Amino acid sequence: MADPILTCENLSVGYTDEPVVVDFSIEIPAGSITTIIGPNGAGKSTLLRALYGQNRYFGGKIHFAGRTIERLSPKERLKLGIGFVPQGRCNFPLMTVRENLELGAYTLRGAASERAIERVLARFPLLAAKLNVLAGNLSGGEQQILETAMVLEAGPKLLLLDEPSLGLSPGNQDQIFEMIAHLRDGGLTVLVVEQNAHGALQISDTGIVMELGRLFMVGPAAEVASDPRIKVAYLGGQ
Ligand SMILES: Nc1ncnc2c1ncn2[C@@H]1O[C@H](COP(=O)(O)OP(=O)(O)O)[C@@H](O)[C@H]1O
Ligand SMILES: [Mg+2]
Repeated sequence: MADPILTCENLSVGYTDEPVVVDFSIEIPAGSITTIIGPNGAGKSTLLRALYGQNRYFGGKIHFAGRTIERLSPKERLKLGIGFVPQGRCNFPLMTVRENLELGAYTLRGAASERAIERVLARFPLLAAKLNVLAGNLSGGEQQILETAMVLEAGPKLLLLDEPSLGLSPGNQDQIFEMIAHLRDGGLTVLVVEQNAHGALQISDTGIVMELGRLFMVGPAAEVASDPRIKVAYLGGQ
């Protein structure tokens, strides 16, 4: 396995006076896809937000690309190469695809912004074909790809995705899983929280199951998908 790009050691994070995610330890190899599954309220979103620096820190360590980052702000983490696509999509439905991409690149200056837009358009030709379409008129899958492209403009090495296929038709969900596999094939490391355990584990290298704020299981995605407990709880018993 490749060296880990991200390591958590006994990480505890939350919101108010008690941590929601407790003693969480994991190593994410560079260039891999890791899927986190688990019931509602397990702390999956809390963990992703904490990796991006958005939640209250209680204890433990986060190492990213050779740096210790648990005290850094989201802006600093983005600069180091962590991109985060929160749950939900299409914040700017009345703006065109091009305007959304320009907005995504607003922190970059002049030529760098142009290059970032060209880079994501080369990666996602379907966006290049719809530059003048209002984002709100894209399919749900295309909107999710646009949101992801806006984050990719910053050039992250690690992409955190929270429930990218939620609320999409089965065809659009497959489109998202194809996008994630395509990003990994292009060298990105992806950590994704997913409600579609079957679809996500199929394209993943590693599966993580969270329950009640803790790591319940971690292993090769195929092993997690074939575990009898996981089949019953998350895969419709198939
Ligand atoms: N903004 C918040 N303030 C306080 N508690 C929160 C907040 N967001 C989530 N929680 C609590 O954290 C726990 C985990 O939630 P969350 O991470 O959203 O779970 P999941 O993404 O696995 O469904 C839940 O008990 C939830 O009520
Ligand atoms: Mg969530």
